[in-house]
Amino acid sequence: MFELSTLYAAFERYFGHPPTRIARAPGRVNLIGEHTDYNDGFVFPMALDRATYVAARPRADRIVRVFSVKFREEDQFNLDQIVRDEQRQWVNYIRGVAKGLLARDLPLRGADLLIDSDVPAGSGLSSSAALEVAVGYTFQLLNNINLLGEELALLAQGAEHSFVGVKCGIMDQLIAALGEAGHALLIDCRDLSYRPVPIPAHVRVVVCDSGVRHRLAGSEYNQRRAGCEEAVRLLKPVLGKIQALRDVRLTDLAEYGHLLPPDLLPLARHVVSENERTLAAADALAAGDVVKMGQLMVESHHSLRDDYRVSVPELDTLVELALAAPGCYGSRMTGGGFGGSTVSLVAADRVDEFVAAMIAGYAIRTGRTMQPLVCTAGAGVSCVYASEEE
Ligand code: GLA
Repeated sequence: MFELSTLYAAFERYFGHPPTRIARAPGRVNLIGEHTDYNDGFVFPMALDRATYVAARPRADRIVRVFSVKFREEDQFNLDQIVRDEQRQWVNYIRGVAKGLLARDLPLRGADLLIDSDVPAGSGLSSSAALEVAVGYTFQLLNNINLLGEELALLAQGAEHSFVGVKCGIMDQLIAALGEAGHALLIDCRDLSYRPVPIPAHVRVVVCDSGVRHRLAGSEYNQRRAGCEEAVRLLKPVLGKIQALRDVRLTDLAEYGHLLPPDLLPLARHVVSENERTLAAADALAAGDVVKMGQLMVESHHSLRDDYRVSVPELDTLVELALAAPGCYGSRMTGGGFGGSTVSLVAADRVDEFVAAMIAGYAIRTGRTMQPLVCTAGAGVSCVYASEEE
């Protein structure tokens, strides 16, 4: 758990006055439903008990000063002239969110912001969505703006599209905004409705970071998304009113798959089958059937590896090791892929043995050091400190 007093003191040291608000937004791990969100499909993530924190104080002018504890760097911009920074990616998340609020005609004052996080960056746990949502919420608090969780998520996603250049879906921002402690959320990414499903007490969710980071992950991601949109365009003439791969069935692909070029058919097959698996997984977990849930996770991994082609050998190794380790019901890569982490469902009373087996196995197979994270489902964005002064 993050020490709020440390954050408070760091703010005071850096800016010379205390913060008036501290907000936090969590990272996430997706249990199943990968690369389905931008196809109007279903996802099943849970928020983590790790978060990005923003300590803040309003200013009397139009300047936003941001200090990142992680990067040991400051950014400064004027609310009337917000532009993308070509050199430093992290500042674009904050600038993009501020710009999005102003574009909605919401009045903003300048602010001093200090940001820190215990969500590991680059490991597929959505540290960027946590940052966007935490910053968006902080601006809300400082300016007495009321946005619904869904609106905040869409604002954060918009910042990522226009300022960061990744055409991500809505899953990460939505779970960062709406996550519920002790639960995963089955989210319908078409209408943003969701159903909380409790994580059974006799299992643990364990994240293993491969340590691999792929430089081209962003462009590969955008290509997959474009491929899905192209598949919909090609299937429309025969399937009529479809808007997204969400509206396509496996039987449709069996009948009309020949209309898709050889590289697009497997993409569509992944998305269509993953939607079915995700719905089945939420039902299985709700019924406490963790064996079924585990099987669906493994099928999801194979589909992501073979059809969607977003896995890497290190993620495949982690899944293989997990399935051979004590107490494991199922395992798969989680998040966008091209590196990052796996998620495994493990019997609570075997989790220590599981963790030890993963550390040893990964070191032997790859020479890499890896520390698994045993996760608890945390709550969505919240204000964790408010001073008396405005
Ligand atoms: C990234 C994106 C999400 C989602 C996943 C893949 O995390 O930000 O919107 O598409 O990849 O499921």
